[in-house]
Amino acid sequence: MTMDKSSPGFPKVRLRRLRKNLAIRQLLQETRISVKDFIYPIFVKEGISAAEESKAMTGVRKFPLSGLIGEVQDCYDLGIRAFVIFGIPSSKDESGSSSFSRHGIVQQSIEFLRSAFGDRIVVISDVCLCQYTLSGHCGILKGSRVDNDQSLNLLAKIALSHANSGSDMVAPSAMMDGQVMAIREALDNSGFTDTIIMGYSAKHASSLYSPFREISDSSPSLGDRKTYQMSFLNHREALREVMLDIQEGADIIMVKPAVPYLDLIRRVREMTNLPLCAFSVSGDYAMIKAASTKDLIDEKQAVHEMLSSIKRAGADIIITYHAKLISQVLNSE
Ligand code: PBG
Ligand code: ZN
Repeated sequence: MTMDKSSPGFPKVRLRRLRKNLAIRQLLQETRISVKDFIYPIFVKEGISAAEESKAMTGVRKFPLSGLIGEVQDCYDLGIRAFVIFGIPSSKDESGSSSFSRHGIVQQSIEFLRSAFGDRIVVISDVCLCQYTLSGHCGILKGSRVDNDQSLNLLAKIALSHANSGSDMVAPSAMMDGQVMAIREALDNSGFTDTIIMGYSAKHASSLYSPFREISDSSPSLGDRKTYQMSFLNHREALREVMLDIQEGADIIMVKPAVPYLDLIRRVREMTNLPLCAFSVSGDYAMIKAASTKDLIDEKQAVHEMLSSIKRAGADIIITYHAKLISQVLNSE
């Protein structure tokens, strides 16, 4: 952008003219956000009979299979059309086998949603092992190390089982090298050439996932995730992660978390024409919740501003626990 000496300035130019009233401001609004931009995360828990409130995230519930349709219908009525399913299984083992079982909690959830809503909603499934392994790691262990290539086989199996249940889109979040390629191959070999892959391409080892781990009971029992999730200090490496996912066949790429990473969202936007998703994580939600509960900020306004900043940075779609709240805000505009 250039502002040379010959371009007029004050008093000929008065930018306040463009802010005179709401109708003018809305006409000139540069960033548009819509209910259709959002993906709502839903937790489905095996072995419960009524919805459970989460301690870490006030207002976010874990649903039994029997409560899933009602919750999604409520969201549907608000205009939300895309959902990402996180499963909380009743049993864990070394290889995380409940993650790919035919009647696993996620597989059943996908089938339920498919039969109730058909193609009226987008069903996205998170593909990872951490809720299902005894270690709580996103891959399987060999000694004390997470074994990349062994984990790939399992991640491909999980993705395939989700596709088989009717998932529109699988979203590998384990940060194993080659996970997108392994999943694309497995899907294509079984005829699921239309199943979309959304890679959690640049996923950082972040303190902002703690509320999620509390809800989904998926904290690593030993160590941390720094040998596979990215350092938040590296921006060039984030671009390499995104490039690799694109080469491996990702249809949609992601930057996660979103709010403290707006610079990366912008850089990725400039680097590629693929659709770009940003994940506004559990910590974003919890921070706003905590501050608004103390009456330090207005929740609706803060959420509107925060989610707008993610779109302004260049994200096309946003995963957010605030999807219902922002829908109410937007629907009342
Ligand atoms: C599982 C997964 C995590 C999140 C999404 N998928 C947790 C983690 O990687 O530790 C985080 C979501 C959030 O904090 O909202 N791999
Ligand atoms: Zn994981």
